[in-house]
Amino acid sequence: MAKKINVPDAVVRVEKSGNRFNAWDTDGVKRTSEITTGARRKAFEGDYLLGRFTNKAGKFYWRRWDGEVASPVDNTSSVDVPTDHAEVLSFIHGSYSLKPQGLMMSELKWKYLIRSAVRGKNIMMTGPAGCGKTMAAKSVVNSLDRPDFYFNLGATQDPRGTLIGNTHFESSKGTYFSESLFVKAIQTPDAVILLDELSRAHPDAWNILMTVLDYGQRYLRLDESDGQATIKVAENVTFVATANIGNEYTSTRVMDKALMDRFTIVEMDVLSEDDENELLTYMFPNVDSTVLGNVAKIASLTRTESNSETARINSGISTRTTVELCGLLYDGFNLVEAAEVSIYPQYDATGGVDSERTFVKQIVQKFCDDGSSDDLFNEDEMAEAEGSMS
Ligand SMILES: Nc1ncnc2c1ncn2[C@@H]1O[C@H](COP(=O)(O)OP(=O)(O)OP(=O)(O)O)[C@@H](O)[C@H]1O
Ligand SMILES: [Mg+2]
Repeated sequence: MAKKINVPDAVVRVEKSGNRFNAWDTDGVKRTSEITTGARRKAFEGDYLLGRFTNKAGKFYWRRWDGEVASPVDNTSSVDVPTDHAEVLSFIHGSYSLKPQGLMMSELKWKYLIRSAVRGKNIMMTGPAGCGKTMAAKSVVNSLDRPDFYFNLGATQDPRGTLIGNTHFESSKGTYFSESLFVKAIQTPDAVILLDELSRAHPDAWNILMTVLDYGQRYLRLDESDGQATIKVAENVTFVATANIGNEYTSTRVMDKALMDRFTIVEMDVLSEDDENELLTYMFPNVDSTVLGNVAKIASLTRTESNSETARINSGISTRTTVELCGLLYDGFNLVEAAEVSIYPQYDATGGVDSERTFVKQIVQKFCDDGSSDDLFNEDEMAEAEGSMS
């Protein structure tokens, strides 16, 4: 390396903006993403600068720099602390790079999700089963430099215990109350709280959450019989919930309207054939691309069918299922076998040749017969196939 080893080639000052620690170099360029959160936080708290150095292997790294700064950070006009709004704007619009590559989601939806989170909205991810709601919610939580908490409300049989806490009795102590993790979570400023599978939660959970989620109330009521007060939700806490609600249904049919009204809805898109193919290709680079293409086609055909007016099946094959199926292909199962174990069990077999399962099998078989993907499936062919079967 030609560079002098012990002089940094860039120097940043860390500023706190909201709850983020941003690093700006002497040219006013934001370098936040190059430096770990911990290093930025320490530099801010210790009020020192960070310099970028080059190690022997030619790699860059950042560490404390107490030396001189060629052009003082403070005098560079473009380094002026951005107004909060400018900061938020640049964060939102630069946020697509934070989306993990393995998550398929349009740029607009992702930015809307980030924006809602940054703006402290209660977010509800909706969409049919296995379309990436939980994955997207977790990804947004990971993208924000904030304390996060995860609660699976679909899995809990005891909403009161999970959300509020439990009253215990011990002969030595008498009756005492132990708070839930949720109580701690809502008292943590800037927390991002994931409420997974809220739509499957016990109605008691919905009732408890009603005041917590209400922008005008924002408190948790502890059990009245305990004579307990209420607990306030801390500043800047964001809730991200997921609901397994088919896009075609109005959510109010499934969940209480008053509760739904407290959320900003982010509807996950069901992937198009191209996006599905891209995802599978990204995840399974070693599986034959023609077969992956066929899997994407099969899934897409079932999705189109399930949305049609004369639908023969209730739901299309989910992305969760195509990913599982391709995992089987990767492990040496062929498409017929993989479909047999991962797809068919999801479709009702009653009704024989008129059953959902038969219908899906026909679609799959189109792509299995001779391994050729050339005979493209179309609606007429399908109708014909059906006619000949019944
Ligand atoms: N949009 C997507 N991008 C990438 N992977 C996806 C996507 N949707 C689904 N998957 C795959 O499917 C799996 C299940 O996704 P996820 O758990 O996020 O679905 P969900 O919508 O939360 O489903 P449920 O309604 O059953 O809770 C993921 O682990 C991932 O492998
Ligand atoms: Mg989920």
